[in-house]
Amino acid sequence: MKALILSGGKGTRLRPLTHSGAKQLVPVANKPVLWYGIEEMVAAGITDIGIIINPETGAEVQAKTGDGGYFGAKITYILQHQPAGLAHAVQVARPFLADSPFVMYLGDNLIQLGDLNYFLQQFIQQQPEALILLRQVANPSAFGVARVDDTGQVFQLIEKPKIPPSNLALVGVYFFSHVIFDAIANIQPSARGELEITDAIQHLIDQQKQVLAYELQGWWLDTGKKDDLLEANRLILDTYLSTTIDGEIDTQSQIIGRVQIGARSKVTNCTIRGPVIIGSDCYLENCFIGPYSSIANHVTLIDSDLEHSMVLEGAKIARIHQRIIDSVIGQRAQLTLAPRRPKALRFLIGDDCQIELT
Ligand code: DAU
Repeated sequence: MKALILSGGKGTRLRPLTHSGAKQLVPVANKPVLWYGIEEMVAAGITDIGIIINPETGAEVQAKTGDGGYFGAKITYILQHQPAGLAHAVQVARPFLADSPFVMYLGDNLIQLGDLNYFLQQFIQQQPEALILLRQVANPSAFGVARVDDTGQVFQLIEKPKIPPSNLALVGVYFFSHVIFDAIANIQPSARGELEITDAIQHLIDQQKQVLAYELQGWWLDTGKKDDLLEANRLILDTYLSTTIDGEIDTQSQIIGRVQIGARSKVTNCTIRGPVIIGSDCYLENCFIGPYSSIANHVTLIDSDLEHSMVLEGAKIARIHQRIIDSVIGQRAQLTLAPRRPKALRFLIGDDCQIELT
């Protein structure tokens, strides 16, 4: 059994955060989204992993993630020159996959599978050509949508339908036998110009091949948008964070609840109310850090209050006297109060940024 994780694509939806990098490397609770997928595979015993990369961000994904040793896996990087669709990515990966059955996982999804191994065992025991996961969603038009009959058999799959026939969306985890390659060879690009894996699975159904579907009960987040990212951050901190303090905290500071502080980070006269994760080499002075906040490595926070927010690597926030909430502050961004005249707001804001002032 092999795994194919898709970390190519265009990454347009999380601008401005992904202007400079892969959306799959955006951290949730200080860990790249992609790594959660890798860890799921390894936990289910699948250690031969191929990762689809694109020419723009592939080198960064590879440099950050490495050869798999860190995860106890063997990672093979597979370059897809164009973001020509999920099924195209599978085609490109054929030399890696050969005739092995495989699980395909979308690298920008965060899925609480509970136990990937359960679905893997169903796939191994029942030997269908495909096994897909579905979940009820409020906005099915944004996804691949399934129609399922009374006995639970999928009989139709449509990619991003304007009028969705059900509220069951295709979750970004699929199990396939090698028969999927024949199906892909028989489909045409969709209206958005992509070879859709949804159409390839529909082709299997049309050929009377067995396609099993299971409904996912745990949470599932596509981290493509700011609010989803903050929600993913909240859920991960809520579910998995435990207290570990490696940094230095002075006696004036108060730490409440589950808080993680990385090596060489210094906390002076702060109140930190967990769940909060703070990376390594950070400097925090006179701050309140409220629940569901993730502070990445090398961040400086001075005289500032924030809550339910993410501050990415190398950012600096100083003397902002209003509480910052529901925010994502990008890498190396600076947000400071300067005592200059005339008193005014001064900005250097990149493309697609969103700023709300009151
Ligand atoms: O999130 C679940 C949805 O994912 C499913 O419900 C849809 O049926 C499925 O088509 C897919 O839709 P998206 O439009 O959200 O896919 P997206 O373009 O965001 O790509 C998903 C991941 O695959 C992302 O990590 C980028 C990567 N990718 C994408 C394309 C198009 C590639 O590696 N290569 C590609 O060519």
